[in-house]
Amino acid sequence: MNNVNCYKYFLRNYFRSRVKAICAHQRQYESVKIADELARLSEFRRACVVGVYLSLPHEVDTGPIIGLCRKQGKRMAVPVVFPEKKQMKFAWLPKNSKNLAQNIYGVLEPKQKEFVPSQKLDLMIVPGRAFTPEGFRLGAGGGYYDRFLKKKAKTTCAVGIAFRMQVQKKLPVSPHDRPIDKLIVPGHIFN
Ligand SMILES: Nc1ncnc2c1ncn2[C@@H]1O[C@H](COP(=O)(O)OP(=O)(O)OP(=O)(O)O)[C@@H](O)[C@H]1O
Ligand SMILES: [Mg+2]
Repeated sequence: MNNVNCYKYFLRNYFRSRVKAICAHQRQYESVKIADELARLSEFRRACVVGVYLSLPHEVDTGPIIGLCRKQGKRMAVPVVFPEKKQMKFAWLPKNSKNLAQNIYGVLEPKQKEFVPSQKLDLMIVPGRAFTPEGFRLGAGGGYYDRFLKKKAKTTCAVGIAFRMQVQKKLPVSPHDRPIDKLIVPGHIFN
């Protein structure tokens, strides 16, 4: 492992445990505030199709965002991974959670996958272990989002979401790392 990868590995673990340490009540409260902020974003208001990840306990809870999209009649798609190629596609989110099953990372995915062409996504929510205010991102380590962001349509607005303590002035960045377009934290949007 080179120095950058070693440092990234350390930081991923560090931020994962810090987020995990947030109590359930606080996590819920902050996640609702992030959804409130998203609701104000013009790119979101205009969006018809939204890509959104299904969260794990050490991430911002996307439940409030899913509720918001449902209320506003937006169509939602969720990531589906292809671990052999470390590639990711989006598939329509089924209405009933019974139609979801865990992938090899423990993340829920649709059982029946109806894939969505990436150019259909008007906006996508991007998870991260940490972000810089300029939109650089430390991911979970698979390179799935970096690969997807590299090929995404210019019309897809990539919106990172994070708790405030996940925003760092500086992070290690590799040439393949792709920045996001906006970053939302509770009470603030970084453009
Ligand atoms: N566009 C790409 N083409 C080829 N390899 C890539 C690309 N993007 C990332 N990788 C590879 O994927 C691996 C993981 O990348 P990185 O450490 O940046 O993951 P990450 O950003 O934390 O993950 P993710 O994007 O899934 O959240 C690295 O070995 C990197 O070389
Ligand atoms: Mg990366």
